[in-house]
Amino acid sequence: MKKTLLIIGLVAVGLFMVYNNRSTADLILYSGRSKALVDPIIERFEQETGLRVEVRYGGTTQLAVALMEEGVRTPADVFWAQDAGALGALSQSGMFRTLPDDIIQMVPYRYASAQNLWVATSGRARVMAYSTTRVNPENLPSSIFDLTNDRWAGRIAWAPTNGSFQAFVSAMLQEYGPQTTREWLEGVKNNGAKNYANNNAILQGIASGETDLGITNHYYLLRSRVGDPRFPVENAFFRDGDIGNMINIAGVGITTASQRTEAAETFIRFLLHEETQRWFTEETFEYATAGLSGTEIRTAYELSPEIDLGSLDNLQETLNLLREAGLL
Ligand SMILES: [Fe+2]
Repeated sequence: MKKTLLIIGLVAVGLFMVYNNRSTADLILYSGRSKALVDPIIERFEQETGLRVEVRYGGTTQLAVALMEEGVRTPADVFWAQDAGALGALSQSGMFRTLPDDIIQMVPYRYASAQNLWVATSGRARVMAYSTTRVNPENLPSSIFDLTNDRWAGRIAWAPTNGSFQAFVSAMLQEYGPQTTREWLEGVKNNGAKNYANNNAILQGIASGETDLGITNHYYLLRSRVGDPRFPVENAFFRDGDIGNMINIAGVGITTASQRTEAAETFIRFLLHEETQRWFTEETFEYATAGLSGTEIRTAYELSPEIDLGSLDNLQETLNLLREAGLL
């Protein structure tokens, strides 16, 4: 009996703490971006504004599903997603409210939703990483469609289970349709492409001589160079506008359920502020979306294809294609 009372007591204290916590937070954020990256940003934001933020961390897809289930009853004011697909899906379900123009205008037009429902906080480019010892950059393929060419037989690495790879396939599917996308997937596979668990493994595979070329995100090389400035790998883009140069984004939106839009907007302006942008792009090696500067960033944006990031919500179709091609 005493034990039961103790448990009831603890539960009551727990509930009080949850209630108390919720009532004192000025903003609730659902974050698909990692705690290691987001916590320091929240700390600065709280110091600067005096607003208190409560964060729920999770996978981007998992949180997007939670938001859709919670609907108008969600406690979340802001959702910070790792990729455009989730933002597109939530926009289409009416989960986001319109952002003010001044926020939208802080980024290039392609890096905000066409309906002003979300804004990109950083970008990452798809690139081909290649061995500087075994590949002459002059002979690199000019289009991602050239990876089916004999010249690259058995020399390509990819990571079919990786979220960024799948987002890229979704973009190809959107731009070129299922027939072309299926042919490309099967063509590269039949060209002896090696499957890697993730992008880091691709970079290591190129450096160690297992493979010569890998399709990956731009920042993995930059991270590898931190530990080894002479890491024998370089990044290259395909020709201007090639789908293989796609830039995906992480971004934020404010929920329609939010009653605290002023605090939510202040938070988004803070994320796009030059200082915050500099801090987290230096941490992650991603590209800043607001206050663009630097040649490499500009090159990546100029070479990237003009795709509608907000309509990349066809992940299920992508996964089906990958399964049919025997890649998952
Ligand atoms: Fe990544």
